[in-house]
Amino acid sequence: MKVLNMGSLNFDYVYSVDHMVQEGETICATYMETFFGGKGINQSIALTKAGVTVSHAGLVGEDGQPFLDLCHENRIDTSYIRKVSGKSGHAIIQIDQKAQNCILLHGGANQCFTEDYIDFVLKDFCEGDVLLLQNEVNLLSYIIDQAYEKKMTIVLNPSPYNQQIVSCDLEKVSVMFLNEIEGSQITGVTDIEKILEVLNTNYPNTKIILTLGTKGSVYQFQGEQYQQEAYLVKAIDTTAAGDTFTGYFIAAFLEHMPVQDALRLSTKASAIAVCRKGAIDSIPDRQEVETWEYSS
Ligand code: RIB
Repeated sequence: MKVLNMGSLNFDYVYSVDHMVQEGETICATYMETFFGGKGINQSIALTKAGVTVSHAGLVGEDGQPFLDLCHENRIDTSYIRKVSGKSGHAIIQIDQKAQNCILLHGGANQCFTEDYIDFVLKDFCEGDVLLLQNEVNLLSYIIDQAYEKKMTIVLNPSPYNQQIVSCDLEKVSVMFLNEIEGSQITGVTDIEKILEVLNTNYPNTKIILTLGTKGSVYQFQGEQYQQEAYLVKAIDTTAAGDTFTGYFIAAFLEHMPVQDALRLSTKASAIAVCRKGAIDSIPDRQEVETWEYSS
């Protein structure tokens, strides 16, 4: 069984601000840093740090060599990453004093996927292999359809939610990770219980993991439900907390860990990540997560 993640690679330009800039307002950032990010590569790194061997497929621009170096340093298979003309994707991220973020994305190379490129990558994968996806690349619906034809296990983090998600046949997805906002956007309801109910009705064959920030997380599948409380730590940057959770949960799932233990492991990993700056820079390795003790 092989694990493929077909997803974005971004340069993250991170601005520390007193408050998020408002419509018509100009404010000065107190600090600015550049990090590696992108939900795709963040999740690949989380997976490898959790102990999974991953192939990452995605597109970078002419400025994209640092991503290849980053993957090599983290022992991620880069044989499917291609350079295209133009620039890599980037994100402009504001972090406020409460450690919350606002993200403005520019897709760049991430939006240059073609059907030929997708076919070229998927030709090496088959039934039972795992495909992890997010929604920061184009042709998502095509990728899902092709992978489903091959009977791959499709894991989707439908983030950020937009019209492209609406065009996908989500019933083909085996495991779906959503936060409360995405859960509400996909179902059209806001109450957590209702979100879970609608997801269960609409996607009865999909394992659902709903992350709820400081309210913890819920796993739901065919009448089974498990809940995990959040570890309330002093967060300084919540960027990639969800990506860290996703990578760790998938790793635990592939190890057939009991769901409650998988939720606990992933929650610990993201609790560590929010105490550090940056996306990829904040993701802890497995040993650190396993030895981490929560002190409230
Ligand atoms: O999930 C966090 C990520 O979202 C950031 O790294 C940014 O690049 C955006 O893709």
